[in-house]
Amino acid sequence: MSISIKTPEEIKKMRVAGKLAAEVLEMIEDKVIPGVSTGELDRICHEYIVNRQKAIPAPLNYKGFPKSICTSVNQVVCHGIPSDKKILKSGDIINIDITVIKDGYHGDTSKMFFVGNITPHAQRLVKVTQECLYMGIALVKPGTYLGDIGHVIQNYAQNHHYSVVREYCGHGIGSNFHEDPQVLHYGRPKTGVQLKPGMIFTIEPMINAGKRHVKLSSRDGWTVETTDKRLSAQWEHTILVTETGHEILTRRGEEHGL
Ligand code: MF3
Ligand code: CO
Ligand code: CO
Repeated sequence: MSISIKTPEEIKKMRVAGKLAAEVLEMIEDKVIPGVSTGELDRICHEYIVNRQKAIPAPLNYKGFPKSICTSVNQVVCHGIPSDKKILKSGDIINIDITVIKDGYHGDTSKMFFVGNITPHAQRLVKVTQECLYMGIALVKPGTYLGDIGHVIQNYAQNHHYSVVREYCGHGIGSNFHEDPQVLHYGRPKTGVQLKPGMIFTIEPMINAGKRHVKLSSRDGWTVETTDKRLSAQWEHTILVTETGHEILTRRGEEHGL
């Protein structure tokens, strides 16, 4: 296992890729409404990434994934495949996960969207999951252990009586979509890899309202759902470790406070 330290030239390219990925999420916001299909959202993002950004949607054909983005609705934890048959309705929560490749480097980010009117229960899950991501990010600086990050996320989720998905994790990222290290969203303080300037990785907690257990669809080989069919939420950013702290490469305009 080896964790790459990015050169200044690579960091420049990762900044560009990260910004493009963030801009796709900003672009799609007002299209996420009742009546739209996830297939249509995929087409809009694909067209934007390819024709406007002159970039490549990394999921398309990645290990056989058939579409350009992931759309994970309600009890779907991650890797939902966009479909013209999946029509969003008021009350749905959806994660849209965007990864673009620009000039050979990847930017990977996802956020939750509310479709129409959402129950307070679902709103709270989405908010706590975003706070889990932000609490993890706040710890990113040289010397921090990955176990410290996993620990705060797990603690915060469990204090709200939610559970942390263990089968999927954050990851190093660069010229590869997924690199070392694995970034677990649970763990113990002062364990695992210690962060160094120039490392770049994602943090992308998947938090379940009910039990942590998940099931991979045998029908499509991709869609991951909660076993108990209760809701799941996820937020993701790509983060650079700097000399003094961190830089969120996929920060959106709405996150000016970060
Ligand atoms: N974007 C996902 C991640 O955060 C990976 C999606 S892989 C795909 O790591 F094949 F489903 F697109
Ligand atoms: Co990722
Ligand atoms: Co992603």
